Amino acid sequence: MSKHFSSDVLVIGSGAAGLTLALQLAQHGRVHVLSKNAVNQGSTWFAQGGIAAVLDDEDSVEAHVTDTLNAGAGLCHEDAVRFTVERSKDAIRWLIDQGVSFTKESDNGAYHLTQEGGHSHRRIIHSADATGEAVHSTLIDRIQAEPNVEVFEDHVALNLITQADKGSSRLRCTGAYALSRKDDHVHVFQARAVVLATGGASKVYLYTSNPDSASGDGIAMAWRAGCRVANMEFNQFHPTCLYHPRAKTFLITEALRGEGAYLRLPSGERFMPKFDTREELAPRDVVARAIDHEMKRLGCDCLYLDISHKPAEFIAEHFPTVKARCLEFGIDITKEPIPVVPAAHYTCGGVMVDRHGQTDLMNLYAIGETSFTGLHGANRMASNSLLECVVYAQSAANHIRDRLREIGIPETAPQWDESRVTNSDEDVIISHNWDELRRFMWDYVGIVRTRKRLERATHRIKLLQKEIAEYYSNYKVSSDLIELRNLAMVAELIIRSAMVRKESRGLHFSMDYPERSPIAKDTILVPMNYADQNVIVNKD
Ligand code: FAD
Ligand code: SIN
Repeated sequence: MSKHFSSDVLVIGSGAAGLTLALQLAQHGRVHVLSKNAVNQGSTWFAQGGIAAVLDDEDSVEAHVTDTLNAGAGLCHEDAVRFTVERSKDAIRWLIDQGVSFTKESDNGAYHLTQEGGHSHRRIIHSADATGEAVHSTLIDRIQAEPNVEVFEDHVALNLITQADKGSSRLRCTGAYALSRKDDHVHVFQARAVVLATGGASKVYLYTSNPDSASGDGIAMAWRAGCRVANMEFNQFHPTCLYHPRAKTFLITEALRGEGAYLRLPSGERFMPKFDTREELAPRDVVARAIDHEMKRLGCDCLYLDISHKPAEFIAEHFPTVKARCLEFGIDITKEPIPVVPAAHYTCGGVMVDRHGQTDLMNLYAIGETSFTGLHGANRMASNSLLECVVYAQSAANHIRDRLREIGIPETAPQWDESRVTNSDEDVIISHNWDELRRFMWDYVGIVRTRKRLERATHRIKLLQKEIAEYYSNYKVSSDLIELRNLAMVAELIIRSAMVRKESRGLHFSMDYPERSPIAKDTILVPMNYADQNVIVNKD
Protein backbone atom coordinates (compact mmCIF):
# COMPACT_ATOMS: atom_id res chain seq x y z
CA MET A 1 0.00 0.00 0.00
CA SER A 2 1.31 3.42 -0.95
CA LYS A 3 1.61 5.79 2.03
CA HIS A 4 1.80 9.55 2.50
CA PHE A 5 4.42 11.15 4.81
CA SER A 6 4.58 14.84 5.81
CA SER A 7 7.31 16.86 7.47
CA ASP A 8 8.65 20.41 7.53
CA VAL A 9 11.83 19.56 5.64
CA LEU A 10 12.51 16.60 3.36
CA VAL A 11 16.22 15.85 2.87
CA ILE A 12 17.05 13.44 0.05
CA GLY A 13 20.45 11.95 0.86
CA SER A 14 22.25 11.02 4.07
CA GLY A 15 25.90 11.97 3.38
CA ALA A 16 27.87 14.80 4.98
CA ALA A 17 25.69 17.43 3.30
CA GLY A 18 22.30 15.92 4.11
CA LEU A 19 23.07 15.00 7.71
CA THR A 20 24.73 18.35 8.51
CA LEU A 21 21.64 20.16 7.27
CA ALA A 22 19.26 17.79 9.10
CA LEU A 23 21.16 18.28 12.37
CA GLN A 24 21.08 22.06 12.01
CA LEU A 25 17.31 22.05 11.48
CA ALA A 26 16.38 19.43 14.05
CA GLN A 27 15.46 22.05 16.65
CA HIS A 28 13.31 24.00 14.21
CA GLY A 29 10.96 21.48 12.66
CA ARG A 30 10.26 17.88 11.77
CA VAL A 31 12.85 16.52 9.31
CA HIS A 32 12.60 13.41 7.13
CA VAL A 33 15.80 12.05 5.55
CA LEU A 34 15.65 9.59 2.64
CA SER A 35 18.61 7.31 1.96
CA LYS A 36 18.43 4.99 -1.00
CA ASN A 37 20.39 2.29 0.78
CA ALA A 38 22.00 2.00 4.22
CA VAL A 39 22.58 5.41 5.75
CA ASN A 40 26.39 5.17 5.40
CA GLN A 41 26.56 4.10 1.75
CA GLY A 42 27.33 7.46 0.11
CA SER A 43 30.75 8.80 -0.86
CA THR A 44 31.18 10.55 2.48
CA TRP A 45 31.89 7.31 4.36
CA PHE A 46 34.72 6.45 1.95
CA ALA A 47 36.54 9.79 2.01
CA GLN A 48 40.14 9.27 2.97
CA GLY A 49 42.45 12.31 2.75
CA GLY A 50 40.62 14.90 4.85
CA ILE A 51 39.07 18.36 4.83
CA ALA A 52 40.83 21.51 3.63
CA ALA A 53 40.62 24.44 6.05
CA VAL A 54 42.65 27.43 7.15
CA LEU A 55 43.78 26.25 10.57
CA ASP A 56 47.51 26.90 10.71
CA ASP A 57 48.87 30.32 11.75
CA GLU A 58 51.24 30.31 8.78
CA ASP A 59 48.34 29.69 6.39
CA SER A 60 45.76 32.29 5.30
CA VAL A 61 42.34 32.61 3.70
CA GLU A 62 44.08 34.39 0.82
CA ALA A 63 46.42 31.43 0.20
CA HIS A 64 43.59 28.86 0.29
CA VAL A 65 41.51 31.05 -2.05
CA THR A 66 44.44 31.47 -4.46
CA ASP A 67 45.19 27.73 -4.54
CA THR A 68 41.52 26.91 -5.20
CA LEU A 69 41.35 29.49 -8.01
CA ASN A 70 44.55 28.11 -9.57
CA ALA A 71 43.34 24.50 -9.42
CA GLY A 72 39.98 25.61 -10.89
CA ALA A 73 41.75 26.85 -14.06
CA GLY A 74 40.11 30.27 -14.21
CA LEU A 75 36.53 29.06 -13.85
CA CYS A 76 35.90 29.24 -10.08
CA HIS A 77 33.49 31.91 -8.90
CA GLU A 78 35.77 33.86 -6.59
CA ASP A 79 32.88 34.99 -4.37
CA ALA A 80 31.85 31.35 -3.78
CA VAL A 81 35.47 30.40 -3.05
CA ARG A 82 35.82 33.19 -0.48
CA PHE A 83 32.44 32.39 1.05
CA THR A 84 33.52 28.76 1.57
CA VAL A 85 37.11 29.31 2.68
CA GLU A 86 36.21 32.09 5.13
CA ARG A 87 33.87 29.63 6.85
CA SER A 88 36.33 26.72 6.88
CA LYS A 89 37.57 27.18 10.42
CA ASP A 90 34.03 27.38 11.84
CA ALA A 91 32.97 24.33 9.81
CA ILE A 92 35.80 22.29 11.35
CA ARG A 93 34.99 23.65 14.81
CA TRP A 94 31.37 22.52 14.33
CA LEU A 95 32.51 19.01 13.34
CA ILE A 96 34.80 18.82 16.38
CA ASP A 97 31.90 19.97 18.57
CA GLN A 98 29.77 17.14 17.15
CA GLY A 99 32.48 14.74 18.33
CA VAL A 100 34.62 14.07 15.23
CA SER A 101 38.05 12.91 16.31
CA PHE A 102 40.76 14.28 14.01
CA THR A 103 44.38 13.06 14.14
CA LYS A 104 46.70 15.02 16.44
CA GLU A 105 50.48 15.40 16.51
CA SER A 106 51.96 12.98 19.02
CA ASP A 107 54.35 15.53 20.55
CA ASN A 108 52.29 18.72 21.08
CA GLY A 109 48.63 17.67 20.78
CA ALA A 110 47.94 20.09 17.89
CA TYR A 111 45.87 18.79 14.97
CA HIS A 112 48.06 17.16 12.33
CA LEU A 113 47.64 18.80 8.94
CA THR A 114 48.58 16.94 5.78
CA GLN A 115 49.07 18.16 2.22
CA GLU A 116 47.51 17.27 -1.14
CA GLY A 117 47.80 18.31 -4.78
CA GLY A 118 47.36 22.02 -5.53
CA HIS A 119 47.70 23.15 -1.89
CA SER A 120 50.60 25.49 -1.13
CA HIS A 121 50.32 24.77 2.62
CA ARG A 122 49.67 21.85 4.90
CA ARG A 123 45.95 22.48 5.55
CA ILE A 124 44.15 19.13 5.38
CA ILE A 125 42.75 18.10 8.75
CA HIS A 126 42.11 14.37 8.79
CA SER A 127 41.39 11.26 10.77
CA ALA A 128 44.34 9.07 9.71
CA ASP A 129 43.32 7.92 6.19
CA ALA A 130 39.64 7.30 7.02
CA THR A 131 38.33 10.84 7.51
CA GLY A 132 34.98 10.13 5.89
CA GLU A 133 34.19 7.30 8.25
CA ALA A 134 35.14 9.43 11.29
CA VAL A 135 32.93 12.32 10.12
CA HIS A 136 30.01 10.25 8.90
CA SER A 137 29.80 7.87 11.86
CA THR A 138 29.74 10.87 14.21
CA LEU A 139 26.98 12.60 12.24
CA ILE A 140 24.98 9.36 12.08
CA ASP A 141 25.25 8.91 15.87
CA ARG A 142 24.09 12.47 16.39
CA ILE A 143 21.16 12.09 13.98
CA GLN A 144 20.01 8.91 15.67
CA ALA A 145 19.74 10.82 18.94
CA GLU A 146 17.48 13.52 17.42
CA PRO A 147 13.80 12.85 18.10
CA ASN A 148 12.77 15.36 15.41
CA VAL A 149 14.65 13.59 12.60
CA GLU A 150 13.47 10.35 11.01
CA VAL A 151 15.74 8.52 8.55
CA PHE A 152 14.13 6.27 5.93
CA GLU A 153 16.77 3.82 4.70
CA ASP A 154 16.26 1.91 1.43
CA HIS A 155 13.97 4.61 0.04
CA VAL A 156 14.90 5.72 -3.48
CA ALA A 157 13.51 9.13 -4.49
CA LEU A 158 12.49 8.90 -8.12
CA ASN A 159 10.79 12.18 -9.03
CA LEU A 160 10.23 15.54 -7.41
CA ILE A 161 6.67 16.76 -6.82
CA THR A 162 5.96 20.26 -8.11
CA GLN A 163 2.82 22.34 -7.68
CA ALA A 164 1.77 25.90 -8.54
CA ASP A 165 2.47 28.23 -5.64
CA LYS A 166 -0.70 29.98 -4.47
CA GLY A 167 0.98 33.29 -3.62
CA SER A 168 3.06 33.67 -6.80
CA SER A 169 2.99 32.43 -10.37
CA ARG A 170 5.99 30.19 -9.79
CA LEU A 171 6.21 26.44 -9.51
CA ARG A 172 7.22 25.19 -6.09
CA CYS A 173 8.66 21.89 -5.02
CA THR A 174 6.57 20.14 -2.37
CA GLY A 175 8.17 16.74 -2.06
CA ALA A 176 9.19 13.57 -3.84
CA TYR A 177 7.95 10.15 -4.79
CA ALA A 178 10.18 7.45 -3.36
CA LEU A 179 10.32 3.71 -3.93
CA SER A 180 10.69 1.71 -0.74
CA ARG A 181 12.99 -1.23 -1.40
CA LYS A 182 11.53 -2.78 1.74
CA ASP A 183 7.90 -3.07 0.63
CA ASP A 184 8.32 -2.36 -3.11
CA HIS A 185 5.77 0.49 -3.11
CA VAL A 186 6.18 4.10 -4.20
CA HIS A 187 5.33 6.42 -1.30
CA VAL A 188 4.63 10.16 -1.25
CA PHE A 189 6.89 12.38 0.91
CA GLN A 190 5.80 16.01 1.21
CA ALA A 191 7.35 18.94 3.03
CA ARG A 192 7.48 22.73 3.07
CA ALA A 193 11.10 22.67 1.87
CA VAL A 194 12.94 19.93 -0.02
CA VAL A 195 16.72 19.50 -0.09
CA LEU A 196 18.65 17.45 -2.64
CA ALA A 197 21.82 16.03 -1.05
CA THR A 198 22.18 13.00 -3.29
CA GLY A 199 25.93 13.18 -4.04
CA GLY A 200 27.65 12.93 -7.42
CA ALA A 201 27.33 10.99 -10.66
CA SER A 202 30.69 9.24 -11.13
CA LYS A 203 28.91 5.91 -11.54
CA VAL A 204 28.25 7.09 -15.10
CA TYR A 205 31.81 5.86 -15.84
CA LEU A 206 32.94 2.24 -16.00
CA TYR A 207 35.77 2.74 -13.52
CA THR A 208 35.10 4.89 -10.47
CA SER A 209 36.25 5.40 -6.91
CA ASN A 210 32.64 6.03 -5.88
CA PRO A 211 30.15 3.71 -4.21
CA ASP A 212 27.15 2.45 -6.21
CA SER A 213 24.91 5.24 -4.91
CA ALA A 214 26.65 7.88 -7.08
CA SER A 215 24.20 7.75 -9.99
CA GLY A 216 23.41 11.46 -10.24
CA ASP A 217 19.78 11.06 -9.11
CA GLY A 218 19.52 14.57 -7.67
CA ILE A 219 20.89 16.21 -10.80
CA ALA A 220 18.52 14.21 -13.02
CA MET A 221 15.48 14.87 -10.80
CA ALA A 222 16.20 18.61 -10.61
CA TRP A 223 16.72 18.86 -14.38
CA ARG A 224 13.45 17.04 -15.09
CA ALA A 225 11.68 19.40 -12.67
CA GLY A 226 12.98 22.51 -14.52
CA CYS A 227 16.29 23.46 -12.86
CA ARG A 228 19.39 24.61 -14.71
CA VAL A 229 22.60 22.62 -14.42
CA ALA A 230 26.12 23.93 -15.00
CA ASN A 231 29.60 22.69 -15.94
CA MET A 232 28.65 19.04 -16.26
CA GLU A 233 31.65 18.41 -18.55
CA PHE A 234 34.06 18.68 -15.63
CA ASN A 235 34.32 15.13 -14.31
CA GLN A 236 37.26 14.66 -12.03
CA PHE A 237 39.33 11.50 -12.45
CA HIS A 238 41.33 10.64 -9.34
CA PRO A 239 44.84 9.70 -10.48
CA THR A 240 45.37 6.80 -8.10
CA CYS A 241 42.85 4.01 -7.58
CA LEU A 242 44.13 0.55 -6.74
CA TYR A 243 44.57 -1.62 -9.84
CA HIS A 244 43.78 -5.21 -8.97
CA PRO A 245 41.28 -7.63 -10.57
CA ARG A 246 39.55 -8.23 -7.23
CA ALA A 247 39.60 -4.63 -5.94
CA LYS A 248 36.36 -2.81 -6.72
CA THR A 249 36.69 0.95 -6.31
CA PHE A 250 39.45 1.38 -3.76
CA LEU A 251 41.11 4.77 -3.66
CA ILE A 252 44.75 5.36 -2.73
CA THR A 253 44.58 8.75 -1.05
CA GLU A 254 46.42 11.72 -2.49
CA ALA A 255 47.79 12.31 1.02
CA LEU A 256 50.36 9.58 0.19
CA ARG A 257 51.79 11.93 -2.41
CA GLY A 258 51.42 14.76 0.12
CA GLU A 259 53.66 12.80 2.46
CA GLY A 260 56.27 12.08 -0.23
CA ALA A 261 55.10 9.11 -2.36
CA TYR A 262 56.39 9.00 -5.96
CA LEU A 263 54.62 7.98 -9.14
CA ARG A 264 56.70 5.52 -11.17
CA LEU A 265 56.63 3.81 -14.56
CA PRO A 266 56.85 -0.02 -14.67
CA SER A 267 60.62 0.52 -15.09
CA GLY A 268 60.73 2.29 -11.72
CA GLU A 269 61.48 5.69 -13.30
CA ARG A 270 59.61 8.76 -11.98
CA PHE A 271 57.69 10.67 -14.69
CA MET A 272 55.83 13.59 -13.04
CA PRO A 273 58.87 15.95 -13.09
CA LYS A 274 58.67 16.05 -16.89
CA PHE A 275 54.98 17.06 -16.81
CA ASP A 276 54.81 19.75 -14.09
CA THR A 277 57.16 21.64 -11.80
CA ARG A 278 54.93 20.70 -8.84
CA GLU A 279 55.69 17.06 -9.73
CA GLU A 280 53.50 14.59 -7.76
CA LEU A 281 51.69 17.50 -6.08
CA ALA A 282 50.36 19.08 -9.26
CA PRO A 283 46.54 19.43 -9.34
CA ARG A 284 44.60 16.27 -10.11
CA ASP A 285 43.72 17.02 -13.74
CA VAL A 286 47.43 17.36 -14.56
CA VAL A 287 48.44 14.15 -12.74
CA ALA A 288 45.55 12.07 -14.15
CA ARG A 289 46.35 13.22 -17.71
CA ALA A 290 50.05 12.48 -17.23
CA ILE A 291 49.23 8.93 -16.05
CA ASP A 292 46.79 8.44 -18.94
CA HIS A 293 49.44 9.70 -21.38
CA GLU A 294 52.17 7.38 -20.05
CA MET A 295 49.85 4.34 -19.92
CA LYS A 296 48.81 4.90 -23.54
CA ARG A 297 52.42 5.57 -24.63
CA LEU A 298 53.71 2.39 -23.01
CA GLY A 299 50.59 0.29 -23.60
CA CYS A 300 50.51 -0.79 -19.95
CA ASP A 301 47.52 -1.54 -17.71
CA CYS A 302 48.65 0.50 -14.70
CA LEU A 303 51.44 2.62 -13.24
CA TYR A 304 52.82 2.62 -9.69
CA LEU A 305 52.65 4.76 -6.56
CA ASP A 306 55.57 4.21 -4.23
CA ILE A 307 55.87 5.24 -0.58
CA SER A 308 58.11 2.34 0.43
CA HIS A 309 61.11 4.67 0.95
CA LYS A 310 59.36 6.12 4.07
CA PRO A 311 59.77 4.40 7.46
CA ALA A 312 57.32 1.50 7.94
CA GLU A 313 56.08 2.93 11.28
CA PHE A 314 55.28 6.29 9.61
CA ILE A 315 53.26 4.52 6.89
CA ALA A 316 51.39 2.37 9.42
CA GLU A 317 50.53 5.40 11.55
CA HIS A 318 49.35 7.67 8.72
CA PHE A 319 47.84 5.20 6.28
CA PRO A 320 46.46 2.23 8.24
CA THR A 321 43.42 1.77 5.97
CA VAL A 322 45.37 1.83 2.70
CA LYS A 323 48.04 -0.46 4.16
CA ALA A 324 45.50 -3.02 5.42
CA ARG A 325 43.42 -3.00 2.23
CA CYS A 326 46.50 -3.44 0.00
CA LEU A 327 47.75 -6.27 2.19
CA GLU A 328 44.45 -8.08 1.53
CA PHE A 329 45.59 -8.19 -2.10
CA GLY A 330 49.12 -9.28 -1.20
CA ILE A 331 50.69 -5.81 -1.63
CA ASP A 332 52.87 -4.63 1.26
CA ILE A 333 53.05 -0.85 0.74
CA THR A 334 55.96 -0.52 3.18
CA LYS A 335 58.07 -2.65 0.86
CA GLU A 336 56.72 -2.32 -2.70
CA PRO A 337 54.95 0.12 -5.04
CA ILE A 338 51.16 0.06 -5.43
CA PRO A 339 49.68 -0.58 -8.91
CA VAL A 340 47.32 2.34 -9.70
CA VAL A 341 45.02 3.66 -12.44
CA PRO A 342 42.86 6.81 -12.70
CA ALA A 343 39.11 6.46 -12.09
CA ALA A 344 36.09 8.77 -12.13
CA HIS A 345 35.94 10.43 -8.74
CA TYR A 346 34.01 13.68 -8.49
CA THR A 347 31.27 15.59 -10.35
CA CYS A 348 32.32 19.26 -10.42
CA GLY A 349 29.14 20.42 -12.15
CA GLY A 350 25.61 20.06 -10.87
CA VAL A 351 22.35 21.78 -10.02
CA MET A 352 22.82 25.55 -10.05
CA VAL A 353 22.36 27.13 -6.64
CA ASP A 354 22.92 30.45 -4.93
CA ARG A 355 24.80 31.08 -1.68
CA HIS A 356 21.93 29.53 0.32
CA GLY A 357 21.73 26.40 -1.81
CA GLN A 358 18.50 27.61 -3.46
CA THR A 359 17.81 26.17 -6.91
CA ASP A 360 15.64 27.63 -9.68
CA LEU A 361 12.61 25.84 -8.27
CA MET A 362 10.94 27.51 -5.31
CA ASN A 363 11.56 25.74 -1.97
CA LEU A 364 13.99 23.28 -3.56
CA TYR A 365 17.58 23.41 -2.30
CA ALA A 366 20.64 21.45 -3.43
CA ILE A 367 23.79 20.96 -1.36
CA GLY A 368 26.98 18.91 -1.50
CA GLU A 369 28.30 17.16 -4.57
CA THR A 370 24.96 17.28 -6.38
CA SER A 371 25.07 21.09 -6.48
CA PHE A 372 27.01 23.61 -8.52
CA THR A 373 28.06 26.49 -6.28
CA GLY A 374 30.93 27.83 -8.41
CA LEU A 375 33.56 26.72 -5.87
CA HIS A 376 35.37 24.11 -7.95
CA GLY A 377 35.63 25.72 -11.38
CA ALA A 378 37.14 23.44 -13.99
CA ASN A 379 38.90 21.22 -11.46
CA ARG A 380 38.11 20.68 -7.77
CA MET A 381 41.08 21.06 -5.46
CA ALA A 382 41.57 18.03 -3.22
CA SER A 383 39.62 17.99 0.05
CA ASN A 384 37.54 21.07 -0.77
CA SER A 385 34.35 19.02 -1.20
CA LEU A 386 33.65 17.88 2.35
CA LEU A 387 34.24 21.50 3.30
CA GLU A 388 31.67 22.62 0.71
CA CYS A 389 29.18 20.04 2.06
CA VAL A 390 29.36 21.44 5.59
CA VAL A 391 29.50 25.15 4.67
CA TYR A 392 26.58 25.07 2.22
CA ALA A 393 24.52 22.71 4.40
CA GLN A 394 24.82 25.25 7.21
CA SER A 395 23.99 28.16 4.94
CA ALA A 396 20.94 26.36 3.47
CA ALA A 397 19.79 25.32 6.95
CA ASN A 398 19.90 28.95 8.14
CA HIS A 399 17.93 30.07 5.10
CA ILE A 400 15.28 27.35 5.50
CA ARG A 401 15.01 28.00 9.26
CA ASP A 402 14.33 31.71 8.64
CA ARG A 403 11.68 30.99 5.98
CA LEU A 404 10.07 27.86 7.34
CA ARG A 405 6.99 29.39 8.93
CA GLU A 406 6.22 31.57 5.91
CA ILE A 407 6.17 28.57 3.53
CA GLY A 408 2.62 27.25 3.30
CA ILE A 409 1.78 23.59 3.90
CA PRO A 410 1.64 21.91 0.48
CA GLU A 411 -1.55 20.54 -1.04
CA THR A 412 -1.68 16.76 -0.81
CA ALA A 413 -0.14 15.28 -3.95
CA PRO A 414 -1.74 12.33 -5.75
CA GLN A 415 -0.44 8.83 -5.22
CA TRP A 416 1.99 7.31 -7.73
CA ASP A 417 0.02 5.76 -10.58
CA GLU A 418 0.96 2.13 -11.03
CA SER A 419 -2.27 1.03 -12.67
CA ARG A 420 -0.95 0.81 -16.23
CA VAL A 421 2.34 -0.98 -15.72
CA THR A 422 3.32 -4.59 -15.23
CA ASN A 423 6.30 -6.38 -13.72
CA SER A 424 9.21 -6.69 -16.12
CA ASP A 425 10.27 -10.13 -17.27
CA GLU A 426 13.35 -8.78 -19.06
CA ASP A 427 15.70 -7.33 -16.48
CA VAL A 428 18.59 -8.18 -18.79
CA ILE A 429 17.75 -4.99 -20.73
CA ILE A 430 18.55 -2.93 -17.65
CA SER A 431 21.87 -4.63 -16.93
CA HIS A 432 22.90 -4.57 -20.59
CA ASN A 433 22.11 -0.87 -21.03
CA TRP A 434 23.78 -0.06 -17.72
CA ASP A 435 27.05 -1.70 -18.85
CA GLU A 436 26.91 -0.21 -22.33
CA LEU A 437 26.35 3.30 -21.02
CA ARG A 438 29.22 3.20 -18.54
CA ARG A 439 31.61 1.72 -21.09
CA PHE A 440 30.98 4.24 -23.86
CA MET A 441 31.15 7.10 -21.38
CA TRP A 442 34.58 5.80 -20.31
CA ASP A 443 35.80 5.32 -23.89
CA TYR A 444 34.30 8.41 -25.55
CA VAL A 445 33.79 11.00 -22.79
CA GLY A 446 36.76 10.21 -20.52
CA ILE A 447 40.02 11.93 -19.60
CA VAL A 448 40.82 12.89 -23.19
CA ARG A 449 37.99 13.81 -25.58
CA THR A 450 37.56 14.48 -29.29
CA ARG A 451 34.64 15.88 -31.26
CA LYS A 452 34.22 12.57 -33.08
CA ARG A 453 34.07 10.57 -29.86
CA LEU A 454 31.53 12.99 -28.41
CA GLU A 455 29.40 12.68 -31.57
CA ARG A 456 29.48 8.89 -31.21
CA ALA A 457 28.48 9.22 -27.57
CA THR A 458 25.60 11.55 -28.54
CA HIS A 459 24.29 8.98 -31.00
CA ARG A 460 24.53 6.14 -28.45
CA ILE A 461 22.88 8.06 -25.62
CA LYS A 462 19.89 8.99 -27.80
CA LEU A 463 19.25 5.33 -28.63
CA LEU A 464 19.65 4.25 -25.03
CA GLN A 465 17.35 6.95 -23.71
CA LYS A 466 14.62 5.94 -26.16
CA GLU A 467 14.83 2.34 -24.98
CA ILE A 468 14.91 3.33 -21.33
CA ALA A 469 11.90 5.66 -21.75
CA GLU A 470 9.86 2.85 -23.32
CA TYR A 471 10.84 0.50 -20.55
CA TYR A 472 10.10 3.11 -17.87
CA SER A 473 6.57 3.75 -19.14
CA ASN A 474 5.66 0.09 -19.50
CA TYR A 475 7.10 -1.59 -16.43
CA LYS A 476 6.95 -1.21 -12.67
CA VAL A 477 9.84 0.89 -11.36
CA SER A 478 12.78 -0.78 -9.64
CA SER A 479 15.82 0.85 -8.05
CA ASP A 480 18.03 -0.36 -10.93
CA LEU A 481 15.67 1.16 -13.49
CA ILE A 482 15.49 4.46 -11.59
CA GLU A 483 19.29 4.67 -11.46
CA LEU A 484 19.73 3.70 -15.11
CA ARG A 485 17.24 6.37 -16.20
CA ASN A 486 19.10 8.96 -14.11
CA LEU A 487 22.53 7.85 -15.30
CA ALA A 488 21.37 8.18 -18.91
CA MET A 489 19.99 11.66 -18.18
CA VAL A 490 23.25 12.76 -16.55
CA ALA A 491 25.31 11.19 -19.35
CA GLU A 492 23.32 13.26 -21.85
CA LEU A 493 24.00 16.43 -19.84
CA ILE A 494 27.73 15.63 -19.65
CA ILE A 495 27.98 14.95 -23.38
CA ARG A 496 26.00 18.08 -24.31
CA SER A 497 28.16 20.23 -22.04
CA ALA A 498 31.38 18.70 -23.41
CA MET A 499 30.18 19.45 -26.95
CA VAL A 500 29.56 23.08 -26.03
CA ARG A 501 33.06 23.63 -24.61
CA LYS A 502 35.34 24.29 -27.57
CA GLU A 503 38.60 24.61 -25.61
CA SER A 504 40.69 22.61 -23.15
CA ARG A 505 40.45 23.75 -19.56
CA GLY A 506 40.98 21.92 -16.29
CA LEU A 507 39.34 18.51 -16.40
CA HIS A 508 37.98 18.95 -19.91
CA PHE A 509 40.71 18.14 -22.43
CA SER A 510 39.80 18.03 -26.14
CA MET A 511 42.33 16.97 -28.77
CA ASP A 512 40.42 19.12 -31.30
CA TYR A 513 40.66 22.23 -29.14
CA PRO A 514 43.86 21.81 -27.11
CA GLU A 515 44.23 25.52 -26.20
CA ARG A 516 42.56 27.35 -23.34
CA SER A 517 40.23 30.10 -24.50
CA PRO A 518 41.08 33.60 -23.15
CA ILE A 519 37.50 33.93 -21.86
CA ALA A 520 36.39 31.66 -19.02
CA LYS A 521 32.68 30.85 -19.25
CA ASP A 522 30.44 28.37 -17.43
CA THR A 523 28.45 25.89 -19.50
CA ILE A 524 24.88 26.44 -18.37
CA LEU A 525 22.19 24.11 -19.71
CA VAL A 526 18.60 25.31 -19.49
CA PRO A 527 15.75 22.75 -19.51
CA MET A 528 12.75 23.17 -21.83
CA ASN A 529 10.50 23.47 -18.75
CA TYR A 530 12.83 25.96 -17.05
CA ALA A 531 11.25 26.79 -13.70
CA ASP A 532 12.33 30.41 -13.39
CA GLN A 533 11.74 32.09 -16.72
CA ASN A 534 12.36 35.54 -15.24
CA VAL A 535 16.06 35.01 -14.71
CA ILE A 536 18.36 35.96 -17.59
CA VAL A 537 20.91 33.22 -18.29
CA ASN A 538 23.50 32.35 -20.93
CA LYS A 539 21.71 29.83 -23.10
CA ASP A 540 24.14 27.30 -24.60
P1 FAD B 1 27.20 11.45 -0.46
O1 FAD B 1 28.06 11.31 0.72
O2 FAD B 1 27.59 10.71 -1.68
O3 FAD B 1 25.75 11.02 -0.02
C1 FAD B 1 24.71 10.93 -0.97
C2 FAD B 1 23.51 10.33 -0.28
O4 FAD B 1 22.38 10.44 -1.13
C3 FAD B 1 23.65 8.86 0.04
O5 FAD B 1 23.11 8.70 1.34
C4 FAD B 1 22.73 8.17 -0.96
O6 FAD B 1 22.16 6.99 -0.48
C5 FAD B 1 21.67 9.23 -1.13
N1 FAD B 1 20.92 9.16 -2.38
C6 FAD B 1 21.39 9.29 -3.64
N2 FAD B 1 20.37 9.20 -4.52
C7 FAD B 1 19.25 9.03 -3.79
C8 FAD B 1 17.88 8.84 -4.11
N3 FAD B 1 17.45 8.82 -5.38
N4 FAD B 1 16.98 8.68 -3.11
C9 FAD B 1 17.38 8.67 -1.82
N5 FAD B 1 18.68 8.83 -1.45
C10 FAD B 1 19.58 9.01 -2.42
N6 FAD B 1 36.32 14.81 -0.43
C11 FAD B 1 37.07 15.52 0.45
O7 FAD B 1 36.81 16.71 0.67
N7 FAD B 1 38.10 14.91 1.09
C12 FAD B 1 38.45 13.62 0.90
O8 FAD B 1 39.37 13.11 1.51
C13 FAD B 1 37.68 12.86 -0.03
N8 FAD B 1 37.99 11.56 -0.29
C14 FAD B 1 37.16 10.83 -1.09
C15 FAD B 1 37.40 9.47 -1.25
C16 FAD B 1 36.53 8.68 -1.98
C17 FAD B 1 36.80 7.23 -2.15
C18 FAD B 1 35.40 9.28 -2.58
C19 FAD B 1 34.44 8.46 -3.37
C20 FAD B 1 35.17 10.64 -2.46
C21 FAD B 1 36.04 11.42 -1.71
N9 FAD B 1 35.82 12.79 -1.54
C22 FAD B 1 36.60 13.50 -0.67
C23 FAD B 1 34.64 13.43 -2.09
C24 FAD B 1 33.57 13.55 -0.99
O9 FAD B 1 33.61 12.39 -0.20
C25 FAD B 1 32.19 13.71 -1.56
O10 FAD B 1 32.16 14.75 -2.49
C26 FAD B 1 31.20 14.05 -0.44
O11 FAD B 1 31.27 13.08 0.57
C27 FAD B 1 29.79 14.11 -1.00
O12 FAD B 1 28.92 14.21 0.08
P2 FAD B 1 27.37 14.35 -0.20
O13 FAD B 1 26.72 14.46 1.13
O14 FAD B 1 27.13 15.40 -1.20
O15 FAD B 1 26.99 12.96 -0.91
C1 SIN C 1 42.00 11.62 -1.47
O1 SIN C 1 42.14 11.30 -0.30
O2 SIN C 1 42.90 11.51 -2.33
C2 SIN C 1 40.70 12.19 -1.91
C3 SIN C 1 40.64 13.59 -1.56
C4 SIN C 1 39.52 14.25 -2.30
O3 SIN C 1 38.92 13.68 -3.21
O4 SIN C 1 39.25 15.41 -1.98
